[in-house]
Amino acid sequence: MHGAALALLDERAEDEWQADHGEEQGNERAVEKVDQGNLWLGIISGEPVSGDTVSPTGRWPLRWPNMEPELHPDLEPLAFLLGDWEGAGVGGYPTVESFHFGQEISFSHIGKPYLIYTSRTWRLDDEGNLAAPLARESGYWRAHAGGKVEVVLAHPTGFAEIYVGQAGFNRVELITDVVARTETAKEYTAGKRLYGLIGEDLGYAYDMAAEGQSLQSHLSAQLKRVS
Ligand code: HEM
Repeated sequence: MHGAALALLDERAEDEWQADHGEEQGNERAVEKVDQGNLWLGIISGEPVSGDTVSPTGRWPLRWPNMEPELHPDLEPLAFLLGDWEGAGVGGYPTVESFHFGQEISFSHIGKPYLIYTSRTWRLDDEGNLAAPLARESGYWRAHAGGKVEVVLAHPTGFAEIYVGQAGFNRVELITDVVARTETAKEYTAGKRLYGLIGEDLGYAYDMAAEGQSLQSHLSAQLKRVS
């Protein structure tokens, strides 16, 4: 028993879900309806079936069983980014001593015209081992017909940035449209990113303008697809 899961279902969706995923697949999942005014609160119990993704609490199914969402057509020019990537890079800046870092990047989708993006990095020591955590960031890459891209990113260092750019031919180039920063954040004012496939690897270069310096290189990295 994986624990009960909760889902908000309208009556029609619940009937369809039961017809598609209930007895026919021989799984023991059951939906108990509880009237919540104009919503039905379904208590789903039983073992999750293959392809089921359940939240860390085990209470909320993040995706209906056995439903792989189809890629939204507007995401096609960004499809090369999809997956989990691991690799290493090098960083520096006129005000920063150069450093090596390890990085994990994940791009996923849920059938809507955006990618879900997260990145985590760690300093690499002289032996190439992962050391203290460095920057992380997360956000959404919104795709539009014709390869136009808008990216919304949040950083724990107090920045929120919106990029605009263009994707095509397994490359995407982005430039900041808006940067906002908290009162205590460093004086970061602009960024430019280029991502592209290098053979089967994902490579990127990142330039920034910060602390009174003009737009120039802060990072570059190359990552391998791990899933
Ligand atoms: C792979 C991602 C990144 C890594 C590994 C990284 C690493 C570093 C390191 C080690 C420093 C110097 C020490 C420090 O001040 O913490 C630094 C400084 C800085 N980074 Fe990054 N960084 C990354 C991404 C970014 C991004 C996306 C931004 C902007 C949104 C950014 C903005 C800055 C700023 C403003 C400084 C301060 C420069 C100064 O003090 O003069 N970094 N970064």
